[in-house]
Amino acid sequence: MKALTQEKLNEIRNSVNIVDVISSYISLTPRGKNYFGVCPFHDDNNPSMSVSSDKQIYKCFSCGATGTVFKFIMDYENITFNESVQKVASLGGIKIDLGYVPKTKDYSEQYDIYDLSLKFYINNINTSKGKEAKEYLKERGITEETIKEFQIGLALRSKNTLANILIKKHKPEEVLKSGLIGKNEYGYFDLFYDRIMFPLYNLNGKVIAYSGRIYNRKDNSKYFNTRETEIFKKGELLYNYHRAKDIARQKNQIIVMEGFMDVIRAHSVGIKNAIATMGTAVTKEQASLIKRMAKEIILCFDGDEAGAKATKACAEELNKIGIIPKVIRLENNMDPDEYIKEYGKEAFERKLNNPISIMDFELSYLKNGKDLNNAVDKAKYINQIIEEINKINDDILKEVTIKKIADETKIDEEIIRKHLVEKPKVVKKEKSLPKLTKYEKAEKALIYFMLKSQEVIKMYDKKVTYMPTKEYRLLAREISAFYHEYNNINEASFIDYIEGDTELTNTIRKVNQNINAEKYTLEEIEDYINVIKEYNVNTAIERMQDKMHEISDPLKKAEIAQKIIDLKKGV
Ligand code: GTP
Ligand code: MN
Repeated sequence: MKALTQEKLNEIRNSVNIVDVISSYISLTPRGKNYFGVCPFHDDNNPSMSVSSDKQIYKCFSCGATGTVFKFIMDYENITFNESVQKVASLGGIKIDLGYVPKTKDYSEQYDIYDLSLKFYINNINTSKGKEAKEYLKERGITEETIKEFQIGLALRSKNTLANILIKKHKPEEVLKSGLIGKNEYGYFDLFYDRIMFPLYNLNGKVIAYSGRIYNRKDNSKYFNTRETEIFKKGELLYNYHRAKDIARQKNQIIVMEGFMDVIRAHSVGIKNAIATMGTAVTKEQASLIKRMAKEIILCFDGDEAGAKATKACAEELNKIGIIPKVIRLENNMDPDEYIKEYGKEAFERKLNNPISIMDFELSYLKNGKDLNNAVDKAKYINQIIEEINKINDDILKEVTIKKIADETKIDEEIIRKHLVEKPKVVKKEKSLPKLTKYEKAEKALIYFMLKSQEVIKMYDKKVTYMPTKEYRLLAREISAFYHEYNNINEASFIDYIEGDTELTNTIRKVNQNINAEKYTLEEIEDYINVIKEYNVNTAIERMQDKMHEISDPLKKAEIAQKIIDLKKGV
């Protein structure tokens, strides 16, 4: 799969400094020789990722994620290895041409179908048949420019126009898979009928689905969405992600809204760091995408009761991965779209500059409809708040809230504290790893240092005949082979060399998990090798013992017994 030589890859990798590149994605702080940051590849708040400018690799001590600048960009941006190499090359000013590189699973026909449908829908809205739809959009204050930018189109008042176009060009089974076309006894028909079509994009900005809005008639559903397909997984996307992500990163702020109309409105007035969850509960995947976009996360859901509920649910999902979002609430049950249209960009920006804390939001939400002079209401309020405080993972926020409530309700802090559940102190955040046998430990450690030193590889070559665990055996052999081919070992080159081999890559991740050492002693390496040898000897002895039971010839038996004794001596 590699179109470039190892030498070229090295050249491209060395044309940039990994520290500069990674710090354009996450913030890094220098400590000693290395830089540290919060690992974006698992849920964490501690700076467990180190980036080494000497070695040109990053490594997370917590989840074991490791790689070179190529792998970082590939995983962070969800792109292929080759796309990532291309990116780094252009950062480093190196010209390469990787040409077309097929992806592992090929959805290109689905993308083509969507490209074609998009052209069709966009064309429709610009014909006479699109007049009414344009009127509707104009009425809502959506300009021509916005229509263009968000590629808004129109599905016709027709049973099968798109179906006919697609069937002519594409395989019927692919057309049916797209979620745009159905089939019955009369033939193929369009699933979207007379709706304004808002394209939905995947994380890379490719159109993969639509949301169609009614605009001139009554219908049970205001919006009709493409069903889930192999390229459209609703829970894994955020509307406008591809447009917002760079700006959000620059501002270090992301605004989360409910509806894509809200995002379109915000964007059209120049607030371009907003994304939408599209009216469903935020999933774990979406939460972690949001987390990666920026540090400051502002929830700006609809101003009504449903919006308040959604705010609470979203905050809870985010809290699970250590995020404490801020909140904006809009008056008069307005949604962001209506609010910006009514009061303008500046009024909305004032809100953005003065978000409330999630706890203040919770408090006012719970207080809603209660009379704190009434003893029953007050008791209920306090109990509900205690329940909320118990959910908070942040000690400082917890303290501030307790003080606030004590003040507000004139109840002694200590009484509130008495009702709090003492959370058992979690010592280690990461899942406890399965216990390693001493053999596995030795194998892991040996490989860890083989990646760093040719001296260790030579010792391995000379003394280790067989690694007990298959995955470590394969990896060790690969490292040794790499060393013999290139006559040196460089961890960064090796990692790029095995790129694409998921098994080896996973094994490297395992090797790096929970080890953090730079230096070794020869004695230490000898120890690891001896442990591995001991394993081999023990299994050899077992095999011979089995054999001894099978044979009856006493002479041969004695011979084997002697061999066993010799082996044992050698241990
Ligand atoms: P407008 O009424 O056009 O301003 O839409 P909105 O952005 O105000 O939408 P609303 O707040 O009602 O809903 C938020 C999101 O939920 C929308 O962006 C849609 O993705 C989704 N949604 C709303 N209504 C429907 C519906 O009838 N069907 C489906 N499938 N989704 C809907
Ligand atoms: Mn709306």
